[in-house]
Amino acid sequence: MLRVSIDPTRCEGHAKCLMDSPEVFDLDDQGFGFVKPEVDVVAHEHRNAVLRAVAGCPEYAISAHEISVEER
Ligand code: F3S
Repeated sequence: MLRVSIDPTRCEGHAKCLMDSPEVFDLDDQGFGFVKPEVDVVAHEHRNAVLRAVAGCPEYAISAHEISVEER
């Protein structure tokens, strides 16, 4: 399973994450990305889109890491 986060100190509001995976990412009032609070772990069907967002963020602001069931 995958857990994803956005580093607010790096995000510059490019919004590519939202375009890649609107089910997981959103933008705040100032246009900065965040992971939707209801997304505890990334659903399997959104996994590839999230990994695309990680690779595609120009600021390297998104990180994802695998977690085990016990870490949930
Ligand atoms: Fe920010 Fe990167 Fe998304 S800069 S808005 S996390 S594409």
